[in-house]
Amino acid sequence: MKDWYERYYTAIQHSAAYSEFCTRVFGRNLGQHGFSDMDQVQLLIDALDIHPDDRLLDLGCGIGGILNSVASSTGAFAVGVDYIEQAVTLAHSRYANPRLQYVATDIGSLCFNPGSFDIVISIDTLYFNAIPETIAVLRELITPNGRMGLLYSHGADPDNPLPTFDRGELPSDRTPLGVALSSHSLAYTATDLTEPDYKHALLKKSVLEELHSKFVDERNEFLYENRYGEANGVMAAIDAGAHARYLYIVTKTGK
Ligand SMILES: C[S@@+](CC[C@H](N)C(=O)[O-])C[C@H]1O[C@@H](n2cnc3c(N)ncnc32)[C@H](O)[C@@H]1O
Repeated sequence: MKDWYERYYTAIQHSAAYSEFCTRVFGRNLGQHGFSDMDQVQLLIDALDIHPDDRLLDLGCGIGGILNSVASSTGAFAVGVDYIEQAVTLAHSRYANPRLQYVATDIGSLCFNPGSFDIVISIDTLYFNAIPETIAVLRELITPNGRMGLLYSHGADPDNPLPTFDRGELPSDRTPLGVALSSHSLAYTATDLTEPDYKHALLKKSVLEELHSKFVDERNEFLYENRYGEANGVMAAIDAGAHARYLYIVTKTGK
């Protein structure tokens, strides 16, 4: 996976087709590789009630565009982490700002002191590590009244639904993330974003179809294939009742 992301972040730096894809699908070109458009990012910002000077961590920040947008609109001090050096280098060059810091590190080896952050955000990144362990670490990293905003999809293979879920029933408290939050005594609310996710996948497919020849001319067809396959997979899984997307807003109370 790491090799794939190195290729991805190298390619998108110079891809006009991918830049147009992001602008049309997400509302802005911030080099997104998650599923959140600017409406979902705004939902996260509003739900977290971020104050100026809050200390914020973005787990899996990619090239830092979303983090820059959150920090700029809220006045937070922010740190973005991602394990891809190319992404972090690009973040420094595109979104330099005295309130922002970018660190190339693995989520599995975060080196921040306990209570370093008021807020953690993470968009489509928790999948890449063991979720219970990551949540345990994040719980320690936030202050006693800290909050987290986690945008997360749970997708089961439509032909092979996970045994813990009945088809069509993917409630927020039964996803691996919901279970991990509860087991670490973290309270949360979850907003169901499955329907917008389906519409978003449809939009992605139609924009990609229009841009296909541009991706081919640039020799970046792998970007097209990655995002097209992903959109198809999301739609098939939602049709089968085996996929759900949620915004989890998590609050820590006590130590
Ligand atoms: C699906 S992308 C989402 C990126 C960004 N949050 C967005 O919404 O566009 C997942 C990101 O997590 C990063 N990532 C995956 N595994 C990681 C790990 N073990 N440590 C740090 N970053 C990781 C990838 O490099 C990638 O930038």
